[in-house]
Amino acid sequence: MAIYSNSKAPNLLVIAYFVVLACFTTLSAANFIRDAEITWGDGRGKVLEGGRGLSLSLDQYSGSGFQSKNEYLFGRFDMQLKLVPGNSAGTVTTFFLSSQGEGHDEIDFEFLGNSTGEPYTVHTNVYAQGKGNKEQQFRLWFDPTATFHTYSIVWNPQRIIFLVDNSPIRVFHNHETSGIAFPKSQPMRVYCSLWNADDWATQGGRVKTDWALAPFVANYRNFNINGCASGGSCGSSSWQTLELDSKGRNRLRWVQQNHMVYNYCADSQRFPQGVSIECKRSRF
Ligand SMILES: *[C@@H]1O[C@H](CO)[C@@H](O)[C@H](O)[C@H]1NC(C)=O
Repeated sequence: MAIYSNSKAPNLLVIAYFVVLACFTTLSAANFIRDAEITWGDGRGKVLEGGRGLSLSLDQYSGSGFQSKNEYLFGRFDMQLKLVPGNSAGTVTTFFLSSQGEGHDEIDFEFLGNSTGEPYTVHTNVYAQGKGNKEQQFRLWFDPTATFHTYSIVWNPQRIIFLVDNSPIRVFHNHETSGIAFPKSQPMRVYCSLWNADDWATQGGRVKTDWALAPFVANYRNFNINGCASGGSCGSSSWQTLELDSKGRNRLRWVQQNHMVYNYCADSQRFPQGVSIECKRSRF
């Protein structure tokens, strides 16, 4: 069904369609066998427990990755992740959404490994029509390698919300009226990967991957998608208008004040002409 056009222009009809559409599909967890496919790594990615879990591994020859079979235009995407334990320096574990082709849109969660005992960095970014440069980075308030935690992306026409265990850590508002591109007309797939990035990931590339510890393994489970898939079927619809209430705004403020370690909005050295407009407009 040709609901999605490739035009970069906002497709109001598509949005109206999804807003009007009542979505009463029952909430059911995605299954890695049915809803995803391992796309690289030559056996380093493994489906576990009949599709409820998936592990990715990395050694000096290759990392591995998988992607969702479907594409989605807006949705809520939840993934539980247990990151590489111990010395994970040089490794990067990802969970992100991306469209394909030129001028692509992308919404990223990337987990930058570290030496034993040193904290992971959670890197977030938003690309619209091929343009990124909207990084915010965080430290977690728990050990992400000890057990599974839930990382979520809520993407609706008004905003993108990044959540960790249901705590909002970042909101990227739609500021198209101020001329800031926002991802809203290109359907995206879910992508996850574990790969080596020791040229930049850990302490600016100073700490390298210790291959004597390979294979490095990251675990994924309880993948959940409530989105509008190609063909127009949507999952439960509460995410379609989700915004933060006062409790959510307080929690976001707490995370940003205590756990944010990098904010592109505060980096005037990098953006000497002035930071992007949404930085001035965005309230919590
Ligand atoms: C790793 O730990 C060091 C020291 O605590 C810290 O400066 C750095 O930001 C951490 N994360 C990464 C990805 O390098």
